[in-house]
Amino acid sequence: MTSIGNDFNVHAVRARYCSLRDGFAFLDAPGGSQVPDEVGEAIARALREASANLGAGYATSKRVGQILSTAEEKAARFLGCEPSEVIFGPNMTSLNFMLSRTAGRSFQPGDEILVSDLDHDGGVAPWLELAFDKDLVVRHVGLNADTTLDLDDLESKLSPRTRVVAFAWASNAVGTVADARRVCSLAHSAGALAWIDAVHYAAHEPIDVGSVGADVLICSPYKFCGPHLGLAYGRASVLEQWRPYKARPAPASPLGRRFETGTLPYELLAGFSATVDYLSSIGGFAAIRPYERALGQRLLDGLPDPVTVYGLPDMDGRVPTFLVNVEGVPADDVAAALAADGIGVWAHDSWYSLGLYPRLGYSDKSVRIGMIHYNTAAEVDRLLDALDRVAAKAA
Ligand SMILES: Cc1ncc(COP(=O)(O)O)c(C=O)c1O
Repeated sequence: MTSIGNDFNVHAVRARYCSLRDGFAFLDAPGGSQVPDEVGEAIARALREASANLGAGYATSKRVGQILSTAEEKAARFLGCEPSEVIFGPNMTSLNFMLSRTAGRSFQPGDEILVSDLDHDGGVAPWLELAFDKDLVVRHVGLNADTTLDLDDLESKLSPRTRVVAFAWASNAVGTVADARRVCSLAHSAGALAWIDAVHYAAHEPIDVGSVGADVLICSPYKFCGPHLGLAYGRASVLEQWRPYKARPAPASPLGRRFETGTLPYELLAGFSATVDYLSSIGGFAAIRPYERALGQRLLDGLPDPVTVYGLPDMDGRVPTFLVNVEGVPADDVAAALAADGIGVWAHDSWYSLGLYPRLGYSDKSVRIGMIHYNTAAEVDRLLDALDRVAAKAA
């Protein structure tokens, strides 16, 4: 197998996944990643050995308590926060609806929320619905021609009424990364909360909520080789001010737990902890990042001419997620031809990025190629060959 320019041992990584053994090339991670066997085993073990609820004096319940506190510690390590600032939920969208409503309890008619045109609708719709209910104003921050966030536009839209600046750290469609530190600092300069959708970013780059200045950050472990789960950070000083929507007898501490409604999926939390251990055992993002960037560069260097890439043309300012079209071939047909060649990609219209979609300039759909650290240079080469064949057939 062709190797690429660093010592990340992708073969050893792939040996940990049953799902990667039959040779199918999963280049679809932005929709949901493959999961290493040890994560599945941790989930099964929790169901076998810790099927109980919190708070009883017997062994299975104590194990559940341990699973929860371990997951909070691992999440805190993953995000760079305190365990008490961690909130688990079903997925990013549900957590975002829940936390935006909680934050919004104190908002007044005419208060403003900024969202961005790079965002997935899971980061926008909760604010639109809150605005509908509470008579708020949602303003959309535009993009530069290259799909980067227009920070001048953002600055011009800040006002004394701005309560939240919500934005995607990385686009799930075109892979463009926002300057999160700068956006958070602009939000704070207006007295607003900095609210980050890190769902796409979290699979590719390390997160440190403290150094970036986030007040709220939400991501989804199923995008980074974990179970279907949502994970949020809330800054303690912010969470302390919020009145939670909670059942009254449910505990109010540790802080983050007061925002979790009902019983958590403890088996998935066990899987989440195994995911964090897995990521650090393969070298963490210090190893993952350069490897993935080399894969992305290899793709960009090898694309045949009739392929259009939407968004940034090289690896600067992006993660290895690419929207493309092959001239003269509908995206659905490209995805079907690749599937027949054992390569998994998707075709879609907006990718849930409703602000970005009209700017991209294709009339119907595009193909998304999403790489993650378990992909190989050989898979990229296979993809390039397959795209060549699709393009040649169309010509
Ligand atoms: C950038 C981004 N934000 C939000 C979401 C929604 O995440 P979830 O499926 O966890 O609700 C996605 C899902 O693809 C996404 O890519």
